[in-house]
Amino acid sequence: MWDRSRGIVAVRNGYRVVMSLLGILDRVADVTTFDKAIEPARQAVQSTLPQAVKDVLHGTWLGHPLHPVLAQVPVGSWLSAGLLDALPPLRPAATVLIGTGVAAAVPAALTGAADWSEQSSGVRRLGALHAVANSVALGLYVSSLAARSRGRGTLGRVLSYAGLGVASGAAAIGGHMAYAESSGASHAATAARALAPDWIDLGPLDDLPERRPVLRTGRGNGVAVPLAAVRRGTRVDVFIGTCAHLSGPLHEGAVAEIRGHECLVCPLHGSAFDLATGHPRRGPSADPQEKLEVRMEAGRVLARLPAHQR
Ligand code: FES
Repeated sequence: MWDRSRGIVAVRNGYRVVMSLLGILDRVADVTTFDKAIEPARQAVQSTLPQAVKDVLHGTWLGHPLHPVLAQVPVGSWLSAGLLDALPPLRPAATVLIGTGVAAAVPAALTGAADWSEQSSGVRRLGALHAVANSVALGLYVSSLAARSRGRGTLGRVLSYAGLGVASGAAAIGGHMAYAESSGASHAATAARALAPDWIDLGPLDDLPERRPVLRTGRGNGVAVPLAAVRRGTRVDVFIGTCAHLSGPLHEGAVAEIRGHECLVCPLHGSAFDLATGHPRRGPSADPQEKLEVRMEAGRVLARLPAHQR
């Protein structure tokens, strides 16, 4: 029997045999007893970091999540150090790479903590496990550096190889969060893929209220795709209606000026998307919100995906 969602299970000779790493992680995501420890940590991250700092850490300014950009530095440095440690003349270079990875782990952890604090509860549980494993790996690498500095090279290499094993497990959990749980994906881009490329009639301009997002619906592949339309005078901006961050309903949001830009603000976690461009002006979303082309015809509003998405 194979059940991905439960993490298991083959029964052989009366014993249950673990078959699926994904399933184990899915089970971890369901364990609510972790929340007693996780929730205070989440609140501490959210209340300690000013919004501007959080936006830097999310990558809102970059238009791309910053955590995967920074996380590759410790992972790459430590993996390379493992290879160099296998070649005795190159071991001093391995020590330099381990130090580089230790230093780079700090900003990578900060970006991860900022993103983690704005995730759904199941992903936060996995993220907590990811963080604990990375902390253990970091401790092993710091201990390895200390051992190497005292001339205990063999112990240093044992500790760093142990760190590499733990860090690899942590990276696998992070990959599961990003790919299987879509924690870093643009949910708006996913919704846009379902939309047919034709012009969509959104109804008369006069039916749209001023400066208040309203729900309109597009179609594609037999499914309804929510759209959020905002009218300002004779101008209408139309977005995919599911927020890039975690699919919040943008038509239930509000129009507000954020950092000098007129934005559509998500009602769930407050991401603010520039009405003119869809670029995030405030996180937690680091991804832009998908925006449609708009034209008027006989007083009606028509919208369609831009050319690069059709
Ligand atoms: S769903 Fe989180 S900001 Fe929109």
